[in-house]
Amino acid sequence: MAVERTLSIIKPDATRRNLTGKINARFEEQGLRIVAQKRLQLSRATAEKFYGVHAERSFFGELCDFMISGPVVVQVLEGENAVARNREIMGATNPANAAAGTIRKDFAESIEANSVHGSDSAENAATEIAFFFAQTEIVG
Ligand code: PPS
Repeated sequence: MAVERTLSIIKPDATRRNLTGKINARFEEQGLRIVAQKRLQLSRATAEKFYGVHAERSFFGELCDFMISGPVVVQVLEGENAVARNREIMGATNPANAAAGTIRKDFAESIEANSVHGSDSAENAATEIAFFFAQTEIVG
């Protein structure tokens, strides 16, 4: 199986509730290695740029408001099939639909305050990692 990297974001609802360590433990216990990590307060311009693909969606403004409502932790996760593996560990976007034992089932508050973001393809992972990290900040 291929070793991949994916971008993860621990969202403001989770940093507010001091869940960073518990979420990181889920990644590490399930085979993903955190090879880069930093805590940031996103600006509105940065949030709008990162989520630009969703600019036409009805919830775009609310999503950006939420993502700048407190600190986030951006991270690069590495492991076998990391993109798909992380999406399994996160669970469905809407916590009401998330499987038992996933981060969103256990921690998310709503479809907006859903605790974590993860890249949805290897191609988007490369773009999203480069959005937040220089190559020198990633130590595998
Ligand atoms: S997915 O998994 O990317 O296909 O999910 P999608 O439904 O396309 O949602 C994309 C991101 O938008 C967030 N989202 C919302 N935010 C606020 N309000 C509503 N109603 C809403 N619906 C979806 C969702 O949490 C996804 O965020 P990220 O950070 O990409 O996971």
